[in-house]
Amino acid sequence: DYLRDDDLTQETRDLISSLPSEKGWLVSQMYQFKGFWQTQALLQGILKCQKHFEAKDSDIILVTNPKSGTTWLKALLFALINRHKFPVSSSSSGDHPLLVTNPHLLVPFLEGVYYESPDFNFSELPSPRLMNTHISYLSLPESVKSSSCKIVYCCRNPKDMFVSLWHFGKKLAPEETADYPIEKAVKAFCEGKFIAGPFWDHVLEYWYASRENPNKVLFVTYEDLKKQTGKEITRIAEFLGCGSIGEEEVKDIVRLCSFEHLSKLEVNKEGTLPNGIETKAFFRKGEIGGWRDTLSESLAEEIDRTIDEKFRGSGLEL
Ligand code: A3P
Repeated sequence: DYLRDDDLTQETRDLISSLPSEKGWLVSQMYQFKGFWQTQALLQGILKCQKHFEAKDSDIILVTNPKSGTTWLKALLFALINRHKFPVSSSSSGDHPLLVTNPHLLVPFLEGVYYESPDFNFSELPSPRLMNTHISYLSLPESVKSSSCKIVYCCRNPKDMFVSLWHFGKKLAPEETADYPIEKAVKAFCEGKFIAGPFWDHVLEYWYASRENPNKVLFVTYEDLKKQTGKEITRIAEFLGCGSIGEEEVKDIVRLCSFEHLSKLEVNKEGTLPNGIETKAFFRKGEIGGWRDTLSESLAEEIDRTIDEKFRGSGLEL
C-alpha cells in the first residue's frame, strides 16, 4: 500500500533524511522531492523507476494527477489500442478483458509497481506497452523524454479533483482523515502540500510540454472527455497513430468505458487490488461540477483564487 512505508531501501532512507518533510493531509508524513510531496513508498518507487525504467519508442504513458480520471483513461486507452485483439463491438464484448478485470490491473502504475513488485518485468508487457504514472514531467525517467514514446496527460477541474480526493482519502485512510477538517484540507491543497501536490506545477509542466511538443504530449481534460467522449477518443487515436477508427467502434468504446457501465461490473464493485484498495473506491460519482455538494462557497472560492493565480498567463483554463 503506497501510504505505508515498511519496505524501504537504504538509498531511499538516505535520500529521505535530506528532504523537507511535513505531516500531511491523508498521510502521517510526506517528503518533498523535486518540488512534489510524496510518501516514502512512492518516493522509492519514483527513484527506482527513474533508475531502471527503459522506455521504448512504441510505449504509451498515461500521466495524471491522482483523482483526475486515471481509471477512465486506463480503460479507454486499453480498449483503444487493443481493439483488434479484443474487439469492443457490442456482440463480441462478452469476453473483453475490461468486463472481468479492473482497469488498474490491466495498466501497470509505474512507481507503484517499482515499489511493490521490484522484480516485475516491464519488458514482458505486450507491445505497445501501456503504463501510467503520476510522476511530474521534469522527474520522468530520462528515456521517456528521449525516446519517441507518447504521453497522454489528463487533468481535471481542481475543485472536482479536490473533492474526489477528499472522499477517496476517507476510504483509503479512515484513521488519518476521520477528524481532519475540510477547511484544513483545502488549505493544504491550495498550498500544494498534499500527496503529489502541488497540482498546478504538475499540470503546467505537462501543459507547456504539450504546447512545445504536440507530437509527444497530448493534453486532455476530464471535462472534454465527459462532454465529447467520442471526439476525444478519435483525437487520442490520431495522436497515438493507431490507425483509422470507425464511428461505431468509437461508440462501442465510449459505452464500454462509461462510468455507468464500468461502475456496475462485479469486478469493479466487489474487487480488491493487490495493494488492498477496494476497486469500488475508484468509482464514486464521475461527474463534472460534483464539488458543489461537498464544498461551501467560501472554500470553492479559496480554490478558485489559487487556480486563477497559478494558471494566469498560461493560456490554460480549468
Ligand atoms: P469522483 O470522485 O468525482 O466521482 P482516478 O481514476 O484518477 O482515481 O479518478 C477517480 C475519479 O474518476 C472519480 O471521480 C471517479 O468516480 C471518476 N471515474 C472513474 N471511472 C470513470 C469513468 N468511467 N467515467 C467517468 N469518471 C470516472
